[in-house]
Amino acid sequence: MARQCCTIVFPAALVLLLLGSADAQLEVGFYRKSCPNAEAIVRAEISRVMTVAPTLGGPLLRFFFHDCFVRGCDASILLNATDSSNPAEKDAIPNSFLRGYKVIDTIKANLEKACPSTVSCADVLALIARDVVSLAKGPYWEVPTGRRDGRVSIMSEALNMLPGFTANISSLKSQFAAQGLSVKDLVVLSGAHTLGNAHCFTVTNRIYNFSGRGDNTDTDPALDKRYVPKLRGKCSPLPADAIKLIEMDPGSFLSFDNSYFTLVSKRRGLFESDAVLLDDSETRAYVLRQANAPPTEFFEDFGVSMVNMGNIGVLTGSQGEIRKQCALRN
Ligand SMILES: *[C@@H]1O[C@H](CO)[C@@H](O)[C@H](O)[C@H]1NC(C)=O
Ligand SMILES: *[C@@H]1O[C@H](CO)[C@@H](O)[C@H](O)[C@H]1NC(C)=O
Ligand SMILES: *[C@@H]1O[C@H](CO)[C@@H](O)[C@H](O)[C@H]1NC(C)=O
Repeated sequence: MARQCCTIVFPAALVLLLLGSADAQLEVGFYRKSCPNAEAIVRAEISRVMTVAPTLGGPLLRFFFHDCFVRGCDASILLNATDSSNPAEKDAIPNSFLRGYKVIDTIKANLEKACPSTVSCADVLALIARDVVSLAKGPYWEVPTGRRDGRVSIMSEALNMLPGFTANISSLKSQFAAQGLSVKDLVVLSGAHTLGNAHCFTVTNRIYNFSGRGDNTDTDPALDKRYVPKLRGKCSPLPADAIKLIEMDPGSFLSFDNSYFTLVSKRRGLFESDAVLLDDSETRAYVLRQANAPPTEFFEDFGVSMVNMGNIGVLTGSQGEIRKQCALRN
């Protein structure tokens, strides 16, 4: 009982904190005077990486979401644990598959060379997300900056706050609402699954053992039956292929487009948390509209929702600090 009480109370307390900082003063071009090349430095490295290692685009985009949903966009995702008895956000299972830390460290080192102690790791994540998307043929948007870096990173908070790949629509809606994000932000930001890979374990139960019977017909009814053999061809039953990679948007997983919505509309989204976007009238209408449209509306919406997400719980002014290395508090 006590446990139950506290897991419910905790997010509520956090919501108040977040709302308290909702009018934080981020601004486009925050570094115009203090580090005029800041955005160009980030973009140059992401541009290089997207050429030599394009599959890093998906994971690099994911960092921003995984950061913002836990303690706000404060780069707490990047902090190393201080010791093994205090695991950090990055040690939480949903974060353990993120890749690209070295890219972030390189960018940060380049920024420190140009303008020491000026550009936050939190802003680096925001700029990386925009650059990855636009370099993958997606939309470009102006990124408000001026975030500062947090000094706290706690594994259990990541476990509590990050929406899971099996989440139902009511959980997703309430987890987004708890961050001040709308149902529209939920469906729009889900479109980020147009980019990158997932691991087989995220879909294995849906195709082999959805209700625990484990017989040949035990598949998720929300999944197109004709699509199951294709997925089975890519992922064998657990534990064999657990961490094998599978494209989230097969055929165009390296380009940012709206084919994710086409897939979901055909009941071919990879995660249960993709499929459930058909369970709510508002998210369903959006999915169906984008499924057969040019990406114009989605592209415009995506930039707006990314800016919305980028406002979550930000530290500004004299709050937090500007880390010298993203993995370490100063
Ligand atoms: C942070 O932790 C990672 C993984 O344990 C390690 O490789 C890296 O060197 C650490 N970073 C710093 C700056 O200590
Ligand atoms: C959705 O998931 C939550 C958390 O797992 C659960 O408590 C709730 O009962 C589920 N809602 C529905 C409608 O299945
Ligand atoms: C299916 O899931 C059930 C319950 O989660 C588990 O006990 C069983 O071992 C699984 N069967 C297979 C074939 O993986």
